[in-house]
Amino acid sequence: MAAKLNLAVLISGRGSNMQALIEACKADDFPARVALVLSNRPDAGGLQIAQDAGIQTASVDHKAYDSKAAFEGALQDVLSSHEIDLICLAGFMRLLSADFIGRWPDQIINIHPSLLPAYKGLDTHARAIADGAVEAGCTVHVVIPEMDAGPVILQKKVPVLAGDTPDALAARVLAQEHAAYPEAVRAIGDGRIRLVDGSVKILEE
Ligand code: GRF
Repeated sequence: MAAKLNLAVLISGRGSNMQALIEACKADDFPARVALVLSNRPDAGGLQIAQDAGIQTASVDHKAYDSKAAFEGALQDVLSSHEIDLICLAGFMRLLSADFIGRWPDQIINIHPSLLPAYKGLDTHARAIADGAVEAGCTVHVVIPEMDAGPVILQKKVPVLAGDTPDALAARVLAQEHAAYPEAVRAIGDGRIRLVDGSVKILEE
């Protein structure tokens, strides 16, 4: 197998998608390893999970910087001290600037709890239920400066059930997120999906 992709997983909170990636990386044939978990919140629960798994962690507290550029400069410093191939945003609650994204061309992906382009932004599940949507799901996509708008890598769907609450739907979608993110990273690492010039090329199913 070719060298494994070095992942940086960026989080802000509990880190269950990060944990799914860490678990997936335990398989010998998984084409990636988590080299770094980075949080913009020093109290993110996911940091402890990563440390317990023996993974290097760092926090760059956005509140400690007086501008987005300064915050992103600090993020960049940490990232560039590891040999990162792919940045996986996993519940990372800061919007990255075009400048920052431009430093990592075709190397930043995100997971979002809706079937994009439907329900960009927050409160996706409550909005889907309020609209009477019959289907919900999650999307792994390339990150571009416009929020939740980059090319789709893969999606997984779940039904919206009668009587669903946002929490019940979120739990059903989250289970699919935990499958989707490793699946997307595996496809990229195996070269079955290539991110090229801002687009997603699917080379084989
Ligand atoms: C997930 O639903 C993810 O799709 C969204 O934020 C949530 C993060 O959850 N971007 P976790 O921190 O991975 O548990």
